Amino acid sequence: MRLVFLGPPGVGKGTQARRLSQEYNWPQIATGDILREAVAQETPLGVRAKEYMDRGDLVPDEIVVGIVKERLAEPDAQEGFILDGFPRTVNQAQELEAELSSFGSGIDAVVFFKVSEKEIIRRLTGRRICKTCGALYHIIYNPPAVEGKCDQCGGELFQRSDDSEDTVRRRMEVYLAQTAPLISYYRSRGILWEVNGEQNPDQVYRQLKEVLGLNND
Ligand code: AP5
Repeated sequence: MRLVFLGPPGVGKGTQARRLSQEYNWPQIATGDILREAVAQETPLGVRAKEYMDRGDLVPDEIVVGIVKERLAEPDAQEGFILDGFPRTVNQAQELEAELSSFGSGIDAVVFFKVSEKEIIRRLTGRRICKTCGALYHIIYNPPAVEGKCDQCGGELFQRSDDSEDTVRRRMEVYLAQTAPLISYYRSRGILWEVNGEQNPDQVYRQLKEVLGLNND
């Protein structure tokens, strides 16, 4: 399956993409993670991307589209993938459509995760991530057994620099102005499915599999 996960920051796209990817072996292609890796490595692309990400703005399309095209050409993406955080503008969606149609395929489904703004602030300001394996935690909803340590690998947990309340509010504004128009873009193509992201992660996962027609047993 070729999937796009769409929704505001902190709605749970990464949480659900990681789970689906582990169950079905479809690679999770998260543009935010790829960009953060480039920032950490201080590559020329990372240095350019950092200023946008720190402000909560979108990284320019020409950078992000190039990254995604390269990633989609890799062997593990030929049987399916989960795009997590891409596309984020109508222009990115058009570029994606053109790229996939050039090798005779397209997006099978777009999942739009919905959640209230109040909940988004709560989720993002409480999010913690494992430096070693990338596992996601939340200080209230999903705390680790030992504070600051990953349950899965013992790695150190950190808070993303763009998860401060002010930057989250900016990311939300950017989402509404630039990404939300994709909801009607994909709805008009008949491939948009909605999932209620306010439920607990297991319930969200169940609904996700239901809308995708995947077996929930
Ligand atoms: P990116 O990394 O993509 O961030 P985002 O879209 O803002 O999404 P998040 O990763 O913050 O949230 P999520 O929906 O994955 O939620 P998560 O599962 O972690 O992008 C960062 C930046 O990179 C952008 O601002 C931009 O600058 C740049 N960028 C990236 N892609 C780009 C593009 N295509 N074009 C241009 N620029 C781009 O969950 C959040 C928290 O909630 C966690 O703590 C989790 O444990 C908890 N949680 C999850 N689900 C539940 C639940 N059901 N109940 C309770 N808690 C939950």
